[in-house]
Amino acid sequence: MSEKLWGGRFAESTDALVERFTASIAVDARLYRQDIRGSIAHARMLGRVGVLEAAEVEAITAGLLQVREEISAGQLPLSEALEDIHMHVENRLIELIGDTGKKLHTGRSRNDQVATDMRLYVREALDDAIARLQELQTVFLDLAEREAETVLPGLTHMQVAQPVTFGHHCMAYVEMFHRDTGRLQDARKRVNVLPLGSAALAGTTFPIDRWDVARELGFDHVAENSLDAVSDRDFLLEVLSDFSILAVHLSRLSEELIYWMSSALAFIDLPDAFCTGSSIMPQKKNPDVAELIRGKSGKVMGQMTSLLILMKGQPLAYNRDNQEDKSIFFSALDEIQASLEVLIHMLPGLRTYPKRMREEAEKGFATATDLADYLVRKGIPFRDAHAIVGRAVRLAQTQGIGLEGLSLHELQKICPQVGPEVAEVLSLEGSVAARNHLGGTAPEQVRSAIARARTRLQRERSF
Ligand code: ARG
Repeated sequence: MSEKLWGGRFAESTDALVERFTASIAVDARLYRQDIRGSIAHARMLGRVGVLEAAEVEAITAGLLQVREEISAGQLPLSEALEDIHMHVENRLIELIGDTGKKLHTGRSRNDQVATDMRLYVREALDDAIARLQELQTVFLDLAEREAETVLPGLTHMQVAQPVTFGHHCMAYVEMFHRDTGRLQDARKRVNVLPLGSAALAGTTFPIDRWDVARELGFDHVAENSLDAVSDRDFLLEVLSDFSILAVHLSRLSEELIYWMSSALAFIDLPDAFCTGSSIMPQKKNPDVAELIRGKSGKVMGQMTSLLILMKGQPLAYNRDNQEDKSIFFSALDEIQASLEVLIHMLPGLRTYPKRMREEAEKGFATATDLADYLVRKGIPFRDAHAIVGRAVRLAQTQGIGLEGLSLHELQKICPQVGPEVAEVLSLEGSVAARNHLGGTAPEQVRSAIARARTRLQRERSF
C-alpha cells in the first residue's frame, strides 16, 4: 500500500519516475510562509465554528509555527516523495503533533489551498514591485531635475528631429512607470480575493466561515464561486500582462541607454560599477546590464504567453496543468524585480555629455521646424515656409554646417523676411524654451511637470 497522505485507495506505490515528474516542491517551496499562514487561519476558523476544539487549534497553530521555523532555518528536508509544499507542511505537522495534525485538512483541498497561497504571495510581490516602481520614478524625477536644461537631439525614425531637454525625456519614463504602477495597483484588487473554502471544487459540508478567514488573511473579498476560485488563474495572467507591458518599457529604456552610450554617439556614460569589460578587448566598457534587461524582457513576455496557452484548453475545474503556473510566474517576477532593482541603483550614476548631444543636434538641423514656424509668424503660409527652410537646409548641407552657421545675408537671400532675431530661433536653447506649454519640452515646463509628478507620486504612495 502507498504511504502517501492520499494513498488509501492505491494498491501500488508510486513509480519513482512519476514521483519525480509530478513533484513541484523545488518550485513551490517558496510558498511556505503563505501556506502556513493560510493553514493557521483555516484552523482558527475551524475552531471558531466548532469543528475543532480550542486545544486542537492551539496544538495545530504551535506545530505550524514550528514547521515554519524549521523550513526557514533550512532544517526540513525536502523530498520529491512528498510532492509539494502543502504535503511537506502537513506531513511535518503530523510528525510533530501526532493525530491532531491530521485534522488540519478538514473542509479543505490542496486546490483551494494552493490558489490561496498564490494569491497571498502575489499580493506581497505586487506591493514589492509597486514600491520599486515608485522608487524608479523618483530616480527619474531626480535625473530630470538635474538635466532640466540639457539639450538632446530628439528623434523620430531614429533621425534627428527636434531638440528636446534630457529632463523632458526622463519625464517620459516617469509617465510610463506611473501607468505601470497604476496597472499593478489595479490588478491587486482582483488578486486580493479569498479562494479558501472552495475545497476541491464544490465547497465543503462543514459550516465554514469564509469571511472570518478572509479578514484574518487580509483579503478584501471572498471568491463567489468555488469552481472558478480553484481553477482560474486570470489573476496571474493579469499581473503577467502588466509585467509584460512594464518589461516593454524597461526594454525601450535599455535600448536607449545602449544607443546613447554607443561609441558613435557617446551621449552618456554609465558607472564603471554597472558595466562589464571584454575578455579579449582591453579597451571595452559595455552596457551589459541594459542589454540583459532588454533580453530578460523577452522572457517575461514569453512567460505571459506560456500561461495563456497553459490555461486555454482547460475545462473547469482544477487540473494539474495549473501546477505549472508557479514556475512561469516566479520566473517573470524574478526578472522584473531584479531589473527594477539594478536600474534603481545604476541610473543615479548616469553621466550626460551635453557637448556631444549639441554636436549631433546641430548636424541634424534640429531647429529647422523652428525656422519654419518663425517664417509663419512673419506671415508666410506654413507649406511655403517648409519649402524655404528645405532650401536653407540644402545650402547648409553643401557647406557642411548647421543652420545656425548660415549668415543672415545668406538666409535673407533665400527669404527676405528673415531678421537678425533668427539667431535665437535657430539656437537649441531658443528652440526648447519656445515649446513652453503643458507637455512641452521647455525647461520651465519640465520643472512644473516634475513638481506635479512628485505630488502625484506622494498620493500614489498612500494608495
Ligand atoms: N502542487 C499542486 C499545484 O501546485 C497542488 C494542488 C494539487 N491538487 C491536486 N488535486 N493534485 O497545483
